[in-house]
Amino acid sequence: MKHNHAPTDICDYEGSDYRERFWTAERRYEDLAERHALRALLPARGHALADLGAGFGRLADLYSGYERIFLVDYSRTMLRQARERWGSDPRFTFIATDIRRLPLADSSCDAVVMIRVLHHLREIDGVFQEVARVLAAGGSFLLEFANKRHLKAIGRWALRRQPWNPFSLEPIEFAELNFDFHPVYVERHLARQGLTIEKRRALSLFRWAPLKARFSPAQLCRAEAALAPLASLYPLSPSVLLRARVEKPAGAALGQLVCPRCRRTLTLERLGAKCEACRLLWPSIDGVLDFKGGPRPF
Ligand SMILES: C[S@@+](CC[C@H](N)C(=O)[O-])C[C@H]1O[C@@H](n2cnc3c(N)ncnc32)[C@H](O)[C@@H]1O
Repeated sequence: MKHNHAPTDICDYEGSDYRERFWTAERRYEDLAERHALRALLPARGHALADLGAGFGRLADLYSGYERIFLVDYSRTMLRQARERWGSDPRFTFIATDIRRLPLADSSCDAVVMIRVLHHLREIDGVFQEVARVLAAGGSFLLEFANKRHLKAIGRWALRRQPWNPFSLEPIEFAELNFDFHPVYVERHLARQGLTIEKRRALSLFRWAPLKARFSPAQLCRAEAALAPLASLYPLSPSVLLRARVEKPAGAALGQLVCPRCRRTLTLERLGAKCEACRLLWPSIDGVLDFKGGPRPF
């Protein structure tokens, strides 16, 4: 899924059929399990929420308690699909950019969500730094990642069918720009940016074809919810959801967009986002604010 124009360290979803190819009926359980977990950990209400690597906005119905919602993704294709679904709701803004360089003001969000995205990042400090910057004091970061220390990997390693050790901390790149992370590694990197873990939840405990064939997604999710308190003490699940918060002085610019060059406030117009200081306009293309292609002078 790589195109020549994307930086080499970005897993490029431009032109991808991710929604249709990946989110088939076979993944109803995973989708439902993520929704349950997110509903349990995400504060129900707030002023501004940013979903980083939002894709086609799969989970955006869970953000209905927020006044301003930023769906951010590198792929214009994904954002166009998100806009088809959510574009009539004025609370939504669609932003095409690299999530390691957000056009959001310091302390502009009281919630940041990142689901199924970390596994595409070779280096994770850059995005955590941005999350810590844009989160307002007391705000919540909801992060899902693929767990290297999951039961199947432990079994394969014990039976010598897998060369890498699921207990060692370094990420494992199992396909190009696809990484599994050890929970301790992720938590250490969050701590470096002042993000402290509040909650941890084992996710997708029953991601196993025979179980999915035997039980309905709703049944599996009910069982998962019952087991979650115990399973989350030391997650061995394929995926983990964390809630972290940032400690910083109070003061917020909730919902504000800023120029990625000078960090002054942007003015939103029909044609795009304008920086009066730089005299630059980031265009709105098909209703998506585009920070990928570069600005034009005005
Ligand atoms: C597996 S999809 C997940 C989409 C969505 N979060 C979901 O769970 O349905 C990964 C998404 O991350 C986006 N992505 C990956 N690296 C990115 C980056 N550096 N900046 C912005 N988006 C990125 C991709 O374009 C893609 O839409």
